[in-house]
Amino acid sequence: MATRGGFSSRLGFIAAAAGSAVGLGNIWGFPFEVGQGGGAAFVVIYLLFCFLLCFPVMATEIAIGRKTERNPVGAFTALGYKNWSWVGKMGIVAGILILSFYNVIAGWAFGYIVEMASGNFGIAEQFGEYTKNVIKVGGYGLIFMLSTTLVVKRGISGGIEKAAKLLMPTLIIMILGMVIYSLTLPNAMDGLKFYLVPDFSKLNGSVIYNAMGQAFFSLSLGMGALITYGSYVNRKENIVSAAALITLADVGIAFIAGMMIFPLIGFMSGGTMEGAAGGPGLIFVTLPQIFGTIGGSLGAIVGTSFFVLLCFAALTSTVSLLEVPVTYAVDELKIRRGRAVWLMAGIIFLVGIPSLLGFGYSEFFSTAFKTFKPGGFDTDFLSFIASIANDTILPLGGCMIAFFAAHVWKKHNLNEELAQGAPGYMGSFVQKYLNFSVSYLAPVILGVLFILTVLSKFFNINIIS
Ligand code: PHE
Repeated sequence: MATRGGFSSRLGFIAAAAGSAVGLGNIWGFPFEVGQGGGAAFVVIYLLFCFLLCFPVMATEIAIGRKTERNPVGAFTALGYKNWSWVGKMGIVAGILILSFYNVIAGWAFGYIVEMASGNFGIAEQFGEYTKNVIKVGGYGLIFMLSTTLVVKRGISGGIEKAAKLLMPTLIIMILGMVIYSLTLPNAMDGLKFYLVPDFSKLNGSVIYNAMGQAFFSLSLGMGALITYGSYVNRKENIVSAAALITLADVGIAFIAGMMIFPLIGFMSGGTMEGAAGGPGLIFVTLPQIFGTIGGSLGAIVGTSFFVLLCFAALTSTVSLLEVPVTYAVDELKIRRGRAVWLMAGIIFLVGIPSLLGFGYSEFFSTAFKTFKPGGFDTDFLSFIASIANDTILPLGGCMIAFFAAHVWKKHNLNEELAQGAPGYMGSFVQKYLNFSVSYLAPVILGVLFILTVLSKFFNINIIS
């Protein structure tokens, strides 16, 4: 396996894995989910779920990867369970699907750097026109995919690790700068109150459901992204503490992103917090309006910085999404890495085209797809693919990975791998709680999540409300 390469340092691995986790999910998804889920009550559920359930699943994925030094498909085979490799295959498909639409959104964000830098805040009102201009936004998407490709092409330590070590600290500094700025605006405190003071009367089944799905997606779990990254981790590393740090970093950055966005909404709304529940349009419509209200060159600087940081966050996630099918192609299909990278990136870009067309350009791809949303079935292609990949495959994959590790591969093997590089692990409280979570909590809760999704999104049977 000497030629396979790998992360050169513990910090490099943690930066790359945290980079995978921190993405559009944190800075775009988390705030809008909090806004729709009624604020802080959502945050509490999200945090519980991250630590009780996601952290153990993450450690398990990394352990399976490191033990086998394989992609998600080969990993099951290498452990002697070829009949489980379908779980890995499902993960590869999810990786391809997620990247296909993730890149579309990243492309929009990339284009917004240009719009903000040129002071075009009016883009907020023309977002529909913007997404309809498929040549333009498709071009931005192509540039984004090329950037992802160029990083992945340079390999694990020379590409992914290097990029993460550069981008992650920059991202953190930029977000903190933005937080400080937004806290100085009038009515910032109303935003913070909305964000941080829980109102548990707003909790209902669908808030809990959304918080769980959001946490799982945000931590890049359920599709083998961390099996893949784990396969490049040194045997001396402490997986348990690394997983804890990655979870903390992801949760921390999502949390700080909220500290940046809700004060801005407080400012814009004059304290009423109207617009906080703006949904997916929050970042592309509401925020540019706010930057426009700030106005002039300061507005342009703040707006440009925001979209630059969003793109940095997205890039460290897209490279991890691309690495999954690439590692698979190299390990299993014996394709040379350089070729595999271009091949997969090309396929994924093509798969993403209907998602690109589904925002006004093509009537068919904008409305003809069936997933549940309140009040009707019709939706755009991107939301349809997200329903399949994020909401269906990830919980199912996570459920299967946890069940497999605890009950098929067996806990003692999992523990043995986790103990490598973690001297105090065996017999510790963390071990007991991780074992309990992976054996029972994760398979059951993720299994329920999967079933609820299938019923709601594909049959419109809504048990929770
Ligand atoms: N976690 C990333 C985000 O929050 C998305 C992602 C999901 C990346 C699954 C890799 C695998 O944006």
